Amino acid sequence: MAPVTSLAGKRVLLIITGGIAAYKALELIRLLRQSDCAVRAVITAAGMKFVTPLSVQALCEDRVYTDMFSLTDESEMGHIQLSRSADLIVVVPASADIVAKMAAGIADDLATTLLLATDKPVLVAPAMNVRMWQHPSTVSNMDTIIRRGIIGVPPDEGPMACGEFGPGRLAAPERILGAIDRILKAGQDLVGRRAIVTSGPTHETIDPVRYLANRSSGRQGHAIAAALAAHGAKVTLISGPVSLADPQGVTTTHVESAEEMRDAVQAALPADVAVFCAAVADWRVKPSKTKIKKSAVSPTLTFIENPDILLEVAHAEKNRPNLVIGFAAETELLAEHAAAKRVRKGCDWLLANDVAPGSDTMGGSENEILLLTEEGSEMWPRTTKEAIAERLVERIVRFFIRRACS
Ligand code: C5P
Repeated sequence: MAPVTSLAGKRVLLIITGGIAAYKALELIRLLRQSDCAVRAVITAAGMKFVTPLSVQALCEDRVYTDMFSLTDESEMGHIQLSRSADLIVVVPASADIVAKMAAGIADDLATTLLLATDKPVLVAPAMNVRMWQHPSTVSNMDTIIRRGIIGVPPDEGPMACGEFGPGRLAAPERILGAIDRILKAGQDLVGRRAIVTSGPTHETIDPVRYLANRSSGRQGHAIAAALAAHGAKVTLISGPVSLADPQGVTTTHVESAEEMRDAVQAALPADVAVFCAAVADWRVKPSKTKIKKSAVSPTLTFIENPDILLEVAHAEKNRPNLVIGFAAETELLAEHAAAKRVRKGCDWLLANDVAPGSDTMGGSENEILLLTEEGSEMWPRTTKEAIAERLVERIVRFFIRRACS
């Protein structure tokens, strides 16, 4: 686990729910305060049966919030403000009850209202009896909240307070602190990760003056490379011919053809994540060394299939990145074609977009995405390609946090 450095200037809102592990939240507060992180706490009614507001307050060096309808709390700081005043909301321990309420969107006390109202990242460290943890309801509730972007620190396995054995014990406070550290180091959350991004079209030479190409501008791929670099990743961008500047902080390799792009991708491996955004020409022709002359008979071009770079990398036995992401530009039956493509290409995630005439996606400044993962699909409404890139990168960050926590 990466050592925790200073969290000075960072603010955590800690929600303590009911459970025998609630006392470990005190140890987490101590560790956070040691890292200079400000901690404000909310304790649920059940949580107060296990720890007292006084002990939590003493460790936080801040007042503790318990009651949704306390006039003092609402006049001093409403629940919206309370959730917005933090960089991260942390639920430790998270009972089966609060996980179920989060999944269902129930807001019947201060803690659940905060969780429904917040726009901040949320980390949940569940702790409960092994049977409760393994109950299909809890499994499905955890699955729901994780899919919505909540970060889970799974419980440990071991003997439990109830005398049973199995998963359900709260993760060690040091492990929770490590996850908090990774989330709060915004802009640094991909430090140490290597990324490869392909972008733009490819040009396939016909003769010394002519080539086959497509309308890709490279804007989406370049925006993704820039966003990955802004989060601290070491990025190699492999770009076909575009009229865009090389993004700052990114190593850019310029290529023309699909074969050159394939060689550049192979040379850039290994990587933790690879995003294949380029509109690679599916075919090339055997180039003529001299300019093809106009004649009475129209020339015939014989197409040769290009290497499928994404497919090769996704199926590679050696050096396969942990996360392989493809794009699919479709003009019809977007969802069906994209789902089939994700499976055929062997990529983990596929971002499909509609490039039908009039959509203005190919070459334009905006994009609308259907994201397919093995967990399901979701729509990302039309927005700028930069905003899509940031959303994708946040998703990539969460992927690596979840991997590191599990
Ligand atoms: O098969 P199709 O071109 O629709 O697949 C699109 C996805 O595959 C994109 O992620 C694209 O970058 C990638 N691709 C590739 N090499 C090819 C063709 C497509 O990497 N030859």
